[in-house]
Amino acid sequence: MSITGIKGMNDILPEEVATWQFLEQTARRIFSLYGCQEIRVPVVEKTELFCRSIGETTDIVEKEMYTFSDKSDHSLTLRPEGTAPVMRSFIQHKLYNQDSVSKLYYMGPMFRYERPQKGRYRQFHQIGAEIIGLDDPRIDAQVLAMLDHYFAAVGIQDVSLQINSLGCPQCRPGYRQQLIDFLQQRLDGLCEDCQRRYSSNPLRVLDCKAKGCKEITADAPSVLDHLCAGCDSHFNAVQQHLQDLSVPFAINNRMVRGLDYYTKTTFEMVTGNLGAQNAVAAGGRYDGLVEELGGPALPGIGFAMGVERLVLLLGDAGRKNPVPQLFLAALGERAQKACFLVLNQLQKQGIRAEMDLSGKSLKAQMRRADKLGSLYTLVLGDNELDSGEAELKKMADGSQSAVTLERLSETLKGRLDADSESSL
Ligand code: HAM
Repeated sequence: MSITGIKGMNDILPEEVATWQFLEQTARRIFSLYGCQEIRVPVVEKTELFCRSIGETTDIVEKEMYTFSDKSDHSLTLRPEGTAPVMRSFIQHKLYNQDSVSKLYYMGPMFRYERPQKGRYRQFHQIGAEIIGLDDPRIDAQVLAMLDHYFAAVGIQDVSLQINSLGCPQCRPGYRQQLIDFLQQRLDGLCEDCQRRYSSNPLRVLDCKAKGCKEITADAPSVLDHLCAGCDSHFNAVQQHLQDLSVPFAINNRMVRGLDYYTKTTFEMVTGNLGAQNAVAAGGRYDGLVEELGGPALPGIGFAMGVERLVLLLGDAGRKNPVPQLFLAALGERAQKACFLVLNQLQKQGIRAEMDLSGKSLKAQMRRADKLGSLYTLVLGDNELDSGEAELKKMADGSQSAVTLERLSETLKGRLDADSESSL
């Protein structure tokens, strides 16, 4: 029996890969406009990094981590998200000494042992950004403007931005207590998970998808009514700056996020097109995280997008792999040899060129050129080799024109340029 892949961990096949590359390249292009630089961190970290940052009582740490002991009995974990590893690296390499503000982005696989379904996988990919060193509300708005810019650039429209503020260590404990008092009288109606969360992580109850919990918490106290003056004015300023930058948003005071490191601004880009997995991107401020992980007391804010969800949203509007620009068809043994050399020269000159190397008939070679979607074909036989001239055929309309073999690559480049101009 052949070996198959692991449940919830997908292969990204060649036909899908152009869309992935497009999403990644667009992130590199857009994020660099905002001064972000790429950072690459390992996929495995010490387990305690995630326990300390994401929080011991979160679903991720309690239930979803791929944790194992290595041969030296160290507890390691496949990263379930990118923020903690990036902060670990930021602190370890003292990036704060290089500049007072660090703007970093990353992309790559993350791992969570969740129940797989459409848009939710056990290995999934994130593209994320983290800005460390600024707590000015303008940076919150700028990060969201960058996210908004990215969605426009990749052509995803059916998403909306929801924002909230989760307060800070000064005001959140008061709110938490209010919520506990409210839930205490309604405990029996909560689902089993929420009865547990009630004492360990009561804010998470607001995020529960169970119908009973939703009904019970419908008139729960709002975090926004319990912000201290500093958090309140920060949140108001973020909203004002978003308006100034023409970034549309809605306030969702029930958004609590599944990771404990957040302070003040939190946000999600949501869609109605992915069923239960409605968050395409999510993030927020984490002003205490760098210090919590042993670094200086620096504020931070960031987000991560789920690439699989972006791909699903793009659907048919995704990108296709590039097709060959020229297919060389050979007639006879002498032409086969010549084509083999010409092919190599063309490729070195930057032309996507193909030929058949399996001895197919001319007809079958042309069929293959067609199947590959080659833009042009050129048949070489003894006559063409003797005269140094051949017919370049444009596959889209069947039109043919004579080219000298010596000037083949120049002529072809000229034709391709003209074609792409006329299609603009
Ligand atoms: P998160 O909300 O856990 O936040 O994940 C961010 C995004 O990753 C989600 O909105 C979703 O699109 C995608 N995602 C999460 N889990 C899965 C899954 N199992 N399958 C497919 N996609 C998934 C974070 O990870 C934070 N580190 C974001 C952040 C960065 N906050 C500040 N900086």
